[in-house]
Amino acid sequence: MKSRQPWVVGVSGASGTPYAAAVLRGLLAAGESVDLVVSRASRLTLLDETGISFRDAHWREDLAAWLARGADGKPDTFDVSDALGDVRYWAAGDLAAGPSSGSYPAKGMLVVPASTAAVAGVALGLSKDLLQRTASVTLKERRPLVVAVRETPLNGQTLRHMVALDEAGAVVLPASPAFYAGATHIQDLVDFVAGRVLDAAGVPHRLYRRWEGELGGATPRSD
Ligand SMILES: Cc1cc2nc3c(=O)[nH]c(=O)nc-3n(C[C@H](O)[C@H](O)[C@H](O)COP(=O)(O)O)c2cc1C
Repeated sequence: MKSRQPWVVGVSGASGTPYAAAVLRGLLAAGESVDLVVSRASRLTLLDETGISFRDAHWREDLAAWLARGADGKPDTFDVSDALGDVRYWAAGDLAAGPSSGSYPAKGMLVVPASTAAVAGVALGLSKDLLQRTASVTLKERRPLVVAVRETPLNGQTLRHMVALDEAGAVVLPASPAFYAGATHIQDLVDFVAGRVLDAAGVPHRLYRRWEGELGGATPRSD
C-alpha cells in the first residue's frame, strides 16, 4: 500500500483566509493528502472574513463550511462531502503532532496566508507553535516551503526576514493577484494567488488562465 505523503497547509493570522480555502480545494481536487494547521490568530481573521468560528473539536464541519464558501460570498461549487476524507487536522499548540518531526513523511508545506509574525518566526527559527515548527522542519529537511506573505506596505524587518527565507530555500510568494488572467470576480483574483502557490509546489490545477503571449486576453469582450 502506498504510504500517505501529505502537504502540510499552515494558515496564519494574516488577512486572506479565502486564499487558504482555494489552496486547500486545489490540493484536494488534485488528489493530494493534506495536513492542516490553523494558528490561533488566524481564527480571528477567519471569523472576520467568513463568520466561521473555527473549533479544534469540530474542525471537520468548520473546515467544510470554510471550503464551501466562495470569496464573493456565494457558495463555491467544490464538493466537500467526500474530499475531506484525506485531511488530517493538528491543533496549533500540539508540538508533539506528526509534522513537528522531520521523520514525518510530509511532501512539504504551504503557509497561506503568511503573517509577518509567521514570516519572522520561521526566518528566525522560533518554532513558537506547530505552524512555525513545521516550517522550520520543512526547511531543515530540504522540502519545498512556500510562504504566501500578506502585508502591505512592508517594513525593513519583514523584507530582511523574507530574504532570509529565500536564502534558506523557501519560495516567498507575496499574495499579490495579477489582472492579466481576465478576473471578473474576487474569487478569480483569489484563485490566481492560490494557483501560483500550487505552481510553486508543482501541484497541477486549473485555477487561473495562464499567460499565452498575447496582449488583450484579459480585456472583457463586448459581445
Ligand atoms: C482582522 C485581522 C487582520 C490581520 N491582517 C494581517 C495581515 O494581513 N498581515 C499580517 O502580517 N498580520 C495581520 N494581522 C495580525 C496578525 O494576526 C498577528 O500579527 C498575529 O500575531 C499573527 O500570528 P500567527 O502568525 O501566529 O498567526 C491581522 C490581524 C487581524 C485581527
